[in-house]
Amino acid sequence: MIVFEDVSHDYGGGPLFGDVSVRLEPGSFHFLTGPSGAGKSTFLKLCYGELLPSLGKVSLMNRDLRAMSRDDLAETRARIGVVHQDCQFLDHLDVETNISLPLTATGRPVNERDVRDLMGWVGLAEQAKSLPPTLSGGERQRAALARAIIGAPNVLLADEPTGNLDWDMSQRLMMLMIELNRMGTAVLIATHDLNLIRFAKAQVQARVMRISGRKLQLAGAEL
Ligand SMILES: Nc1ncnc2c1ncn2[C@@H]1O[C@H](COP(=O)(O)OP(=O)(O)OP(=O)(O)O)[C@@H](O)[C@H]1O
Ligand SMILES: [Mg+2]
Repeated sequence: MIVFEDVSHDYGGGPLFGDVSVRLEPGSFHFLTGPSGAGKSTFLKLCYGELLPSLGKVSLMNRDLRAMSRDDLAETRARIGVVHQDCQFLDHLDVETNISLPLTATGRPVNERDVRDLMGWVGLAEQAKSLPPTLSGGERQRAALARAIIGAPNVLLADEPTGNLDWDMSQRLMMLMIELNRMGTAVLIATHDLNLIRFAKAQVQARVMRISGRKLQLAGAEL
């Protein structure tokens, strides 16, 4: 689904990770961890074609990222949901409209009932008509998750999705992503929070990748 072959990325200060080869298979659950600045967000950007790798090959849905036209990439991206590290909304549009944006922006039909169901699922039924600046941190993160999955993506990429949340809310959000994975969505979560990874590993079979010393490795069972 997302395949890295001998990938490394360098913004100019030396490669962040070298020669990574990994496969994110349909229905899989992965964590990516490592210290601040290790390259987690960079790795995720490679996964949805926001960046091209400096070296090596990234394939999304069996197609080489480098060979994709803009239209191909847009079509492929519609199958990948992303929760960005700094979740931004259009502040003048209500939460419901923001959550529907991935559909409206790509000309896909919006089924109001589906949107309402999804908002209920993430616990935001009451906030449908609120403006984003009035949401709490946890509500914003849940809205960002809803927006990422409104288009029923095959894969969800989440960059520190529990970044600013307390432990209760972090667990709640994690359970939503685990539930999504149980329904078949492949999930990749970048987080520095090892407690969150431990919590998830008790519920779901997850593989943990760690960037350390500019190398990405699969972590063992020690977590
Ligand atoms: N657009 C860019 N141009 C140049 N350097 C960049 C760019 N984006 C990131 N970097 C650098 O690349 C390194 C990795 O950044 P990245 O955001 O991927 O790390 P991260 O693991 O997500 O960190 P954090 O946990 O703080 O979010 C950092 O040293 C960062 O300064
Ligand atoms: Mg980051």
